[in-house]
Amino acid sequence: MNLDPVHWHNGSLMILDQRLLPDEERWIEASDWKQVAEAISSMAVRGAPLIGVAAAYGLALADNDPVAKQGLASTRPTAVNLFHALDRVANSKDPLQEAHRISEEERAANEAIGNFGASLIEGNATVITICNTGSLATPGIGTALGIIRVLHRQGKLREAILCETRPRQQGLKLSAWECIQDSIPFRVIPDGAAAAFMKTHGAQFVVAGADRIARNGDTANKIGTYSLALAANAHKVPFAIAAPTSTIDPNTPTGEEIPIEERDPAELLEVAGHRVAPKGTPAWNPAFDVTPATLIDHIVTEQGAFSKPYDFGV
Ligand code: MRU
Repeated sequence: MNLDPVHWHNGSLMILDQRLLPDEERWIEASDWKQVAEAISSMAVRGAPLIGVAAAYGLALADNDPVAKQGLASTRPTAVNLFHALDRVANSKDPLQEAHRISEEERAANEAIGNFGASLIEGNATVITICNTGSLATPGIGTALGIIRVLHRQGKLREAILCETRPRQQGLKLSAWECIQDSIPFRVIPDGAAAAFMKTHGAQFVVAGADRIARNGDTANKIGTYSLALAANAHKVPFAIAAPTSTIDPNTPTGEEIPIEERDPAELLEVAGHRVAPKGTPAWNPAFDVTPATLIDHIVTEQGAFSKPYDFGV
């Protein structure tokens, strides 16, 4: 799939508005860092590496203004790529050049992650994943979905199983869209069906992305990843996290210290903008959960496939 959902064009940042997919491909043309910050908080652009890339260009648009750095940093708290990218641009002499470099590094990292990940899996594999970790979440082929792409290229993929990913449905809307474009065989399941799928159909591998990997390997990723890891462990299906090293945070010792974003309960209480819960329904809507390192069999980065126990100390 040849998609560049965040790219520089004629002095502006072009951002594909993912809130409208799969029905409409509309682009936001951002010429100001505030537009970029708004695109990140409203999730027009999302996925940890792509958030980092967008923020890097946003700070470049502001020519490294510290107020802009602060504003961009306060958009989403969990994905550490955001903070790593902002620090890199802030410390560079040529902000735009640094933003281009970050984007290119992420693209290259994905290819390596795809190859390392695919080498862990035998042929004719059914692989379960969650959220969208593909070309809409990062420059290039993606991380967890990148591994699925490489398996497909190598003729080793039987079927990708995409968890719907409530409440924003990144699996149902975005990963399904990518799989259709690339003719990758797939089916969507409700998040709650993952354990039943493993029991009734069997699966060879489960792989998810990450928003922040703590020093000890505990990993924050889309809400539902922890349940998926528990189900995989109970059914003895290998469970892996795939992420670039820009998602590792050596300054966060364990998952306990990872800030978890909580979003508007309306995301849960409404479907396609219509309230479906009774008026006054209370809700808890965390965007991420933390999977303990003990449940993670492999962490695949562009540097290779690591096994537990993990220590990503500097
Ligand atoms: O809230 P989102 O859609 O930004 O969450 C995305 C995820 O949880 C992804 O798994 C993660 O950012 C990795 S994307 C390569």
